[in-house]
Amino acid sequence: MKLFIVYCHPSENSFTRNMLNAFVRGITDSGNECIISDLYKMNFDPVMTEQEYLRDAFYKNTPYVAEDVLAEQEKINSADAIAFVYPVFWTEAPARLVGWFDRVWSYGFAYGDKTMKELDKAMILCSAGNPLERLEEFGLMDSMKKVMFGDRLFGRAKEMEFVVFDSTSREKAEREDNWESNLQKAYEKGLHFFDYAGE
Ligand SMILES: Cc1cc2nc3c(=O)[nH]c(=O)nc-3n(C[C@H](O)[C@H](O)[C@H](O)COP(=O)(O)O)c2cc1C
Repeated sequence: MKLFIVYCHPSENSFTRNMLNAFVRGITDSGNECIISDLYKMNFDPVMTEQEYLRDAFYKNTPYVAEDVLAEQEKINSADAIAFVYPVFWTEAPARLVGWFDRVWSYGFAYGDKTMKELDKAMILCSAGNPLERLEEFGLMDSMKKVMFGDRLFGRAKEMEFVVFDSTSREKAEREDNWESNLQKAYEKGLHFFDYAGE
């Protein structure tokens, strides 16, 4: 089985990079394969152009779609499932990933008379500096889930899972205390990702 991972973090010096590596190891150890779009390494341009805006906002299914967007859409349709790996920035994904959705989820691909396949599964693995209790206090966790599941992934994946690695801020002792157990958890998420296919 093939997993497409969209990864977005500005630095190699991060928990999130280590978490991605552990997750990928789990995927390959289970005999599956993955392809990764590392949005910073690719220098993916997240800014929608006027031409793209006019195409999407006026529901014009013109053949023009930028090469970098087409490449991402082809990766999606070549995969069985998708995963997004990123740190929470201001209760959202980093801007580069938000812009990835703006551009890649184009009219005629992700909505309208869409050509995007329905994926078997979508998983979000994100790191958050705050503890889960703080994210739940004001419904912040819920808003992140609603945006990802209720909008971006709605009707585009049969199964969805949101995994949060909380208290990963450098100000928190838990960052170091939970480092190994968090990486083990990420590894197991990878190892068992395609368990549904063996049922
Ligand atoms: C610009 C910025 C905004 C952030 N916003 C949030 C936030 O809204 N909620 C939160 O829990 N953590 C927030 N964080 C913490 C990151 O999620 C943190 O970088 C991540 O949890 C894990 O660390 P890593 O960068 O070593 O991977 C923010 C960090 C940065 C740099």
